[in-house]
Amino acid sequence: MQSLLNKKIVLGISGGIAAYKSAELARLLMQEGASVQVVMTQAAQQFVTPVTMQALTGNLVFTSQWDSSISNNMAHIELSRSADVILIAPASADLMAKLSLGLADDLLTTLCLARDCPLLLAPAMNKQMWEHSATQRSVERLIQDDVTLLGPASGAQACGEIGMGRMLEPIEITELIIAFFQKKSLAGKRVLITAGPTFEEIDPVRGITNRSSGKMGFAIARAAIEAGAQVHLVAGPCNLATPLEVSGKITRTNVISAKEMHAATMSSGACDVFFAVAAVADWGVAKPAKDKIKRQGKQVPKLEFIANPDILLDMAKTVKAKAGKPYPYCVGFAAESTDLAKHAAEKRKRKGIPMIIGNIGPDTFGSDLNQLLVIDESGSKKITKSEKLQLARQLIELVAKKL
Ligand code: C5P
Repeated sequence: MQSLLNKKIVLGISGGIAAYKSAELARLLMQEGASVQVVMTQAAQQFVTPVTMQALTGNLVFTSQWDSSISNNMAHIELSRSADVILIAPASADLMAKLSLGLADDLLTTLCLARDCPLLLAPAMNKQMWEHSATQRSVERLIQDDVTLLGPASGAQACGEIGMGRMLEPIEITELIIAFFQKKSLAGKRVLITAGPTFEEIDPVRGITNRSSGKMGFAIARAAIEAGAQVHLVAGPCNLATPLEVSGKITRTNVISAKEMHAATMSSGACDVFFAVAAVADWGVAKPAKDKIKRQGKQVPKLEFIANPDILLDMAKTVKAKAGKPYPYCVGFAAESTDLAKHAAEKRKRKGIPMIIGNIGPDTFGSDLNQLLVIDESGSKKITKSEKLQLARQLIELVAKKL
């Protein structure tokens, strides 16, 4: 799936050591289907050559407003008019200062001033330069002028110092650009999501878990952020990176057991939508052993189970009506080995929730692909097999319409 298909991106590169990452950034944007037109400042060319960028993008690189290859000598107008977005990465302190003042003394700054499309900057500079009041004034002015800043991040810098001012990684910038283009159907909404498996302890080294990978829940978290929501993710033990972490629109609580997941979910505060995607263990071990249970010949240990709290059921009990609609809007998930439609529909009624999503098996666990059956008060419909992120985006659209 390509998320930037038919998007035209002007990639501006200004002078900073992070410019070496712009080559990778151009590749990633193109892999997502975007066409990339590079514009470089004089200083940028000290770090990476136009030849590199031209070879990667397949497009002529522009470096001067006096370039005669554009017939009417209006590169600054032509480039910005045909773009869906101008992304400058890295954006140096000097470039940000110029842009904040409306200066236009080279091609990149001129086309930014002449633009009629959004402008996004990925700042990159030494931490002292970032923290300097002059740079912070530029940041304030740029934000007032509707410019979007992507980062910077904190961390090790090329100069050997550690602090704020590192450019975001190319993959992070790419994901933020993808998010930028998604429909903001959940703008201002709070979304709570449980994801992944749980782990029920038998003794300090053993436990019972299930085959959930967490991928679907994490994809829903990403799609919700893309749609403009603030997300809280309660994740069982799974090895997945927090989606769109650099957006600042997600918080995450890691839990192990169903009991912990229940406590973290119930105490996470008000939300507009709750997605119960986690595969929560129905039973926990009544008395987990304090020490590792020793093997004793052919004897097998007897385990006694107790029922775990039902997180979705308990959340559904908190639902109140707001403007005639259920609040929060609770969405359950169902994985079944037989009669999915029947069992899922029963589950929706039993839990008292407006929508349940059936995972149409058998390869849902751990796979990047899935196929869903959406059941709500109006009946059921299938969402055909595709990548979990694409399914998540469709689900977010469906749910947004219910709010
Ligand atoms: O109760 P059952 O497992 O059949 O239903 C599945 C749905 O309920 C999923 O949305 C799952 O996240 C949620 N669930 C829960 N707490 C449990 C068991 C299931 O939130 N203890």
